[in-house]
Amino acid sequence: MNIPAFTLSRQIQEIGPAVEEAMHEVVNSGQFILGPQVQAFEERIAQMTGTGYAVGVANGSDALYLALRAAGVGPGDEVITTPFTFFATAGSILRTGAKPVFTDINLDTFNMDPDQASARISPRTRAMLPVHLFGLMADIDALRQHYAGVIIEDAAQAIGATLRNKPAGSVGDLAAFSFFPTKNLGAFGDAGMVTTTNDQWATMLRSLRVHGSRQKYHHEWLGINSRLDAVQAAVLNVKLNYLAHWTTRRQQIAERYRQGFVERRVSDIHLPSVPQGFSHVFHQYTIRAEARDRLSAYLKDRGIGTTVYYPLSLHLQPALRDLGYRLGDFPRSEQAQDEVLSLPMFPELTDQEVDYVVQQIAAFYQGG
Ligand SMILES: Cc1ncc(COP(=O)(O)O)c(C=O)c1O
Repeated sequence: MNIPAFTLSRQIQEIGPAVEEAMHEVVNSGQFILGPQVQAFEERIAQMTGTGYAVGVANGSDALYLALRAAGVGPGDEVITTPFTFFATAGSILRTGAKPVFTDINLDTFNMDPDQASARISPRTRAMLPVHLFGLMADIDALRQHYAGVIIEDAAQAIGATLRNKPAGSVGDLAAFSFFPTKNLGAFGDAGMVTTTNDQWATMLRSLRVHGSRQKYHHEWLGINSRLDAVQAAVLNVKLNYLAHWTTRRQQIAERYRQGFVERRVSDIHLPSVPQGFSHVFHQYTIRAEARDRLSAYLKDRGIGTTVYYPLSLHLQPALRDLGYRLGDFPRSEQAQDEVLSLPMFPELTDQEVDYVVQQIAAFYQGG
């Protein structure tokens, strides 16, 4: 068998014609940036998340940056986040002139540990930026018990996830989504969204994405060019119709992995945990294995693709060396970077493929 870690080709076979038709309509309309397709998509995301406001932007990184800006984060401020995430989380904080203050993760969930985070709060703390990594929400309810300030969700990987029945995007004061093509809801290019329940921040976001302007050619503050393209919104409007079905299938695949490992008594790996009250949308199915590198090479030889998200924690990235962190500062994040392995996960994966992956992992631990 040949099983990629991820592929879009099967999905495109399924939905290609509907997407092409929607793209064609945009071409014929001549309206390529913002416009009715973008507005319709914004309204649907606002409704789905129950936030009231959703502002389409060019990508998830800008969504984070603009959410921080709308909340007034800037030079001299600190923003608490985790080092075990994609670079954009911390990069966006630095773009505002503020400083990322890292706090370690919980190794079972890969998300911010609320108790540790509370110990990082200082008079300069202006916001917290927890990440819903791999499709599982960070425990924002617990963070709220420690911190009364602004909480911004990095929901890039978690559309459709819930925390005690509250959707990702609705629990923080603001949230950033990415529709990068490989995300659970992916465009045919870059796209992003900020959600908020605060109408003043929504107005600010709409201005910041067009160079800080509410009235054309009048600029009240410094913004950027970060608008959502109509073609991407048209693609996303079609794909959003499938999201619930795709999410269910991801959850079924995760359950099949779990049951398979239990049945074959594979006890040398840590499986993703889903704490009570959380629903996981499995953007990734990420296990931890001490023998990670040998396991991934073994699987590769047997036609199974895997990926390491993320091989180097942000506090150890050369680009962030000026923050002054060192090896040893965040031991759980460092352990995760050495042990994580994301197994094939996409809705079109077949049961036979899942079983084959389980079988090969069992064979690795049972001596090949
Ligand atoms: C956790 C996280 N934050 C932020 C981003 C940035 O999103 P984008 O690639 O759309 O800029 C991504 C995705 O790439 C992500 O996974």
